[in-house]
Amino acid sequence: MTTKKQGGLADIIAGQTSISTVGKQGKGLSYRGYSIEDLASKATFEETAYLLIYGKLPNLAELQQYKKKLQGLRKLPAGLLLILEQLPGTAHPMDVLRTGASALGALEPETDEHNHYHVADRLLASSASMLLYWHHFHTSGLRLDTETENDSIAGHFLQLLHGHTPNELHEKGLDASLILYAEHEFNASTFAARVTGSTLSDIYSAVTTGIGTLRGNLHGGANEAAMALIEAFNSPSEAEKGILQMLQSKKLIMGFGHRVYSVCDPRSDIIKQWSKKLSDEAKDSSLYSISERIEQIMMQEKKLFPNLDFYSASAYRLMGIPTSLFTPVFVISRISGWVAHLIEQRAHNRIIRPNADYVGPEPSPWLSIDQRA
Ligand code: COA
Repeated sequence: MTTKKQGGLADIIAGQTSISTVGKQGKGLSYRGYSIEDLASKATFEETAYLLIYGKLPNLAELQQYKKKLQGLRKLPAGLLLILEQLPGTAHPMDVLRTGASALGALEPETDEHNHYHVADRLLASSASMLLYWHHFHTSGLRLDTETENDSIAGHFLQLLHGHTPNELHEKGLDASLILYAEHEFNASTFAARVTGSTLSDIYSAVTTGIGTLRGNLHGGANEAAMALIEAFNSPSEAEKGILQMLQSKKLIMGFGHRVYSVCDPRSDIIKQWSKKLSDEAKDSSLYSISERIEQIMMQEKKLFPNLDFYSASAYRLMGIPTSLFTPVFVISRISGWVAHLIEQRAHNRIIRPNADYVGPEPSPWLSIDQRA
């Protein structure tokens, strides 16, 4: 008889949502009823964010207006630029985004006028600005102009990063990746953000909670850790040998496994295709072939499949994104899912406060200080 592993709130229904379905029958993902396959091939990230936050697919006029609004919200206040300059260049970019979101909440707090939709749009529009202003200031001393003509968040990000009009395939690939990362039901960071929101705290505080939770390697940090793993090998055969050794010493292989999906992560097939397209375009299949061999070994040895983070690593590297910005890119996208959940939480709020099973000492008589061991 097999006993199921306890803890981690596994298999617990912690609330209701009408935003997404994850892993029904072990696979499949949909946002507000639309399959991830349709969204990733037919929608843009802005359409997806609108769907998540505003609850419906935008029509053409709404989409144009939304993109224009987001484009107009990219500039950062002087106080925030100063803070970004003060942060060390050695900080992890996730710490920079966490601080940036929190500081913006102090500089432009949520009010009746600047309601949760406005704050959502502001954070979505300006997170690439925060990240890349800090990045350029500390790598080259450049005080970056954070406004560009590019009206997509993916294109804007790549343009700010590289300083030139992005390659079309890179922009499309990043856009698809932002769609894949946008929302995932009660994952750890969304749940943590909802807990913060349930106390009637503000959106900035809840998003800051989300960023802090996403940072860890078992969650969003896995895409950076997967890159470090893939890059440690020079060839598929070296990767095969290395992964077998790691499994023998019971090490976790980053970018594999999932709490909810048991058959496959539907996002992985999509980002894998992007990784292949980007490798073909670059005429460099080294990372892709090492990744495929790791995938084969993990299936053969552990029956584990790659999650979204695994092939995102090679795709991002082929777009020229530095590894330390991988998880921050996840943040830029996931803000849409977090905020959608916060708005949903507010609409039917009750403070999230579960119970614990006490396993500590039995009641004992008080010990004065001279009686203690
Ligand atoms: N590499 C090696 N073994 C793994 C593994 C991985 N990536 N993921 C799970 N396993 C093993 C566990 O060690 C465990 O084995 P055991 O029963 O012998 O102890 C078994 O598979 C079940 O895993 P469990 O730890 O119960 O899964 P979980 O639901 O608690 O955790 C993850 C889910 C995603 C945190 C876990 O799979 C993981 O750590 N993956 C790597 C990090 C990652 O890619 N995170 C991104 C998630 S989208």
